[in-house]
Amino acid sequence: MSVRFTVNGRKVSANGEARQSLADFLRESMNLTGTHLGCEHGVCGACTINVDGQPTRSCLTLAVACEGSEVHTIEGLQNDRVMIALMDSFHTHHGLQCGYCTPGMLVSARDLILRGKAGNDADIRRGLAGNLCRCTGYTNIVTSIAAAAAALAAQEAA
Ligand code: FES
Ligand code: FES
Repeated sequence: MSVRFTVNGRKVSANGEARQSLADFLRESMNLTGTHLGCEHGVCGACTINVDGQPTRSCLTLAVACEGSEVHTIEGLQNDRVMIALMDSFHTHHGLQCGYCTPGMLVSARDLILRGKAGNDADIRRGLAGNLCRCTGYTNIVTSIAAAAAALAAQEAA
């Protein structure tokens, strides 16, 4: 099967098997290895990317189902102002250890901030319920996201 969509603003076509996941297409055909695979059945959130602006499990999404979609991986969000604030904050507040969960965490956190759902720790923890981390105990991740949200709010108020 052949489908066309955009990845990080670039037009691509996928010609793989109908059963190929979007995650495998991105990693194997596009070398976009910032999309991580953990459980490969929709539980851990490591593979979370944006499809048409929505955080999406790329392990559960078939590449052939993306006809006409706009896909953004962690690599395509490097210049996004919310993502920049999040990456700075994860660095400052030690929001990662091994980093395996981090791309998915950042994509989910960006969505929380954009939707105004990162106003307090309880909201952030609820919003991250679909992203598992085996290293951090979550405290520093939540602190990082709260600090990024506060920094962005202060920028907007200035
Ligand atoms: S690898 Fe997709 S949810 Fe775990
Ligand atoms: S930092 Fe290691 S799994 Fe989250």
